[in-house]
Amino acid sequence: MPISDKRLYHNKNSEVDNNFLQGLTGQAMDSEDIAVARFSELLALERGFSLAYSKMVRAAALLHDIGKQKISDAILSKPGKLSAGEFEIVKSHTAIGAAMMSGIHGDLGVMVRNTCLFHHEFMNKQGYWGICADDLPAYIPIISISDTFCALIHDRPYKAAWEWDKALQYISGQAGVQFNPALAGDFISLAKNTKNIRGLGI
Ligand SMILES: [Fe+2]
Repeated sequence: MPISDKRLYHNKNSEVDNNFLQGLTGQAMDSEDIAVARFSELLALERGFSLAYSKMVRAAALLHDIGKQKISDAILSKPGKLSAGEFEIVKSHTAIGAAMMSGIHGDLGVMVRNTCLFHHEFMNKQGYWGICADDLPAYIPIISISDTFCALIHDRPYKAAWEWDKALQYISGQAGVQFNPALAGDFISLAKNTKNIRGLGI
């Protein structure tokens, strides 16, 4: 466990108040963000993190793409392939999101901003900024894999929603490429069990 995670794990003040989160996120979240947040919280618990830490992971996951609010709909909703310039604009949602979250104090603020910045990093360093995902605090790959899965099982301007099984096959295929293999394995187990739980809104 990276040092930064240990510090969060042992911080008794790290409980995330639901009302605080509601106020923070009430206008910004859609069903896909909520699904990412729920998967991330469950995966954090599955991986042995405390309930308090896992709630913080949920909060960070809920806010991971908040920077997209500042990206043009014409680009985000473009059905075809993005130009190189358009892709650079999309990539900027990471830094924009982190800047938007500058007002959140303490450990949660650090966690949210790091998540905004680094949720598109891959284990093989082929993500947005070329950082190995395994070198990031553990909550970021947890959110990243949840984000990828939820993107696959939801509609996009350029594709229809995938079936869960197809999406899980994709996740499996990215083990050791985009994701740490142990993390991918834990996610697949979780998703197979979660599929039958009603009321998750996923
Ligand atoms: Fe993103």
